[in-house]
Amino acid sequence: MTTSPTTAIILGTGLGKLADEITDAARISYKDIPNFPVSTVEGHSGNLIFGKLGDKDILAMEGRFHYYEGYTMKEVTFPIRVMYELGIKTLFVSNAAGGTNPAFEIGDLMIITDQINALPENPLRGKNFPTGPRFPDMSEAYDKKLIQQAVAIATEKGIKVQQGVYLATQGPTFETPAEYKMFRIWGADAVGMSTVPEVIVANHCGIKCFGISVITDLGVEGKIVEVSHEEVQKAADAVQPLMAEIMREMINRA
Ligand code: HPA
Repeated sequence: MTTSPTTAIILGTGLGKLADEITDAARISYKDIPNFPVSTVEGHSGNLIFGKLGDKDILAMEGRFHYYEGYTMKEVTFPIRVMYELGIKTLFVSNAAGGTNPAFEIGDLMIITDQINALPENPLRGKNFPTGPRFPDMSEAYDKKLIQQAVAIATEKGIKVQQGVYLATQGPTFETPAEYKMFRIWGADAVGMSTVPEVIVANHCGIKCFGISVITDLGVEGKIVEVSHEEVQKAADAVQPLMAEIMREMINRA
């Protein structure tokens, strides 16, 4: 069995299928890990999976924690602290997001180039952990080399990708048209409810980050329609094979 992966992956809403490809998998239930947050939703206890994706040792999070569920920012990001202690050096994340860039279409994949924290708190608030400085640099929150590599892989495979800035809100409401407009003015290309806290803490731990958003709905003036969680999941489901193809290859080369 694999014991020392240096690569970890967190799969977002409707994007969990890649975890099914993990071989030699050992699953550890979150509830068996000291201090790990435990899902309050019945049947969604969540697991850390140790195994192989292709030839690569990997640690995957089956189930992630969102601020809107009521967890503190420390709880949301606790798994990243565990990853650091386990020796993880590179973190791959995916999420479903609403596109605010008028050039985007539903079903697009967006390589995340940067992020905006629009959550009410920063996960590093409070006593500083010695994994990083009190005032961490965030000038390259998403690793530029990994972004370049992803663009190259997408080009090789003929997969259309967008690039852009991901903004995270606390949720659980989707945005009003006025909020989508504001976030666009702020510089967001896509809006979601995850990822940003984990990437902040990963940066503080010196873990390189790479992320892909699946654009599941549009927060673009004139194109805004009612959104539901089911539609977000359906749209994510439809493109997840392409997202998985890029991630698989990225992990293979990590
Ligand atoms: N807003 C916030 N979170 C989301 C969205 C959105 O439009 N789509 C999927 N997750």
